[in-house]
Amino acid sequence: MITIRKERTEDIPQIRDINLQAFGQPAETRIIEALRRNCAAFLSLVAEDDGQLIGHILFTPVVIDPDGRGLAGMGLAPMAVLPRRQRQGTGSALVERGLQLLRQRACPFVIVLGHPQFYARFGFTPASRRNIRSQWQAVPDEAFMLLVLDQAAMQGVSGTACYRAEFNEAMQPSLFSSRPAAATLQL
Ligand SMILES: CC(C)(COP(=O)(O)OP(=O)(O)OC[C@H]1O[C@@H](n2cnc3c(N)ncnc32)[C@H](O)[C@@H]1OP(=O)(O)O)[C@@H](O)C(=O)NCCC(=O)NCCS
Repeated sequence: MITIRKERTEDIPQIRDINLQAFGQPAETRIIEALRRNCAAFLSLVAEDDGQLIGHILFTPVVIDPDGRGLAGMGLAPMAVLPRRQRQGTGSALVERGLQLLRQRACPFVIVLGHPQFYARFGFTPASRRNIRSQWQAVPDEAFMLLVLDQAAMQGVSGTACYRAEFNEAMQPSLFSSRPAAATLQL
């Protein structure tokens, strides 16, 4: 049976391995490790099956309109499931548990940059419908998505959504253009 739980210190090497295997590159692991050091509001969950970790998801703060009203929510990134365990529902279980915890914490919204069809099943819609844009100009509109958890708090909120600075390095235009489009969506 698969259990979704918060990460523990002893999980760190397995989390590294899952992300390396799923993404095939170290960029996501570097970001996770920097955020673990720097970010107190880090919500990191793992999927465990029979004592083995098979999946990981991370949520960290995102601020919409940081120069104006500045409403803080969370961004889902990255998420990874071991290649041999993909398409068995683990990724969906990680997203659902994460959203449940964030609702309990009165988080007003969750942002994600990813595959539109995958995230639509959890209720994410293009953030542009609320006039919320990515800080990264090259991000395709349909891949930048929002889930509103608290309608009242989100009333009238629009503007640029900013992830933690730890994500910037991976999203630089030079890296962006040197990677295939699908890879840029992995964050
Ligand atoms: C994306 C990922 C975390 C999903 O985990 P998972 O355990 O396979 O997810 P689930 O089994 O709950 O759901 C599978 C669904 O994900 C979607 N999906 C998975 N990989 C996809 C891809 N590369 N492109 C588009 N959709 C994809 C499909 O819609 C699939 O549904 P289907 O099996 O009915 O066709 C996993 O595929 C992974 O680790 N990928 C590599 C890393 C990555 O891209 N992470 C960021 C995701 S934005």
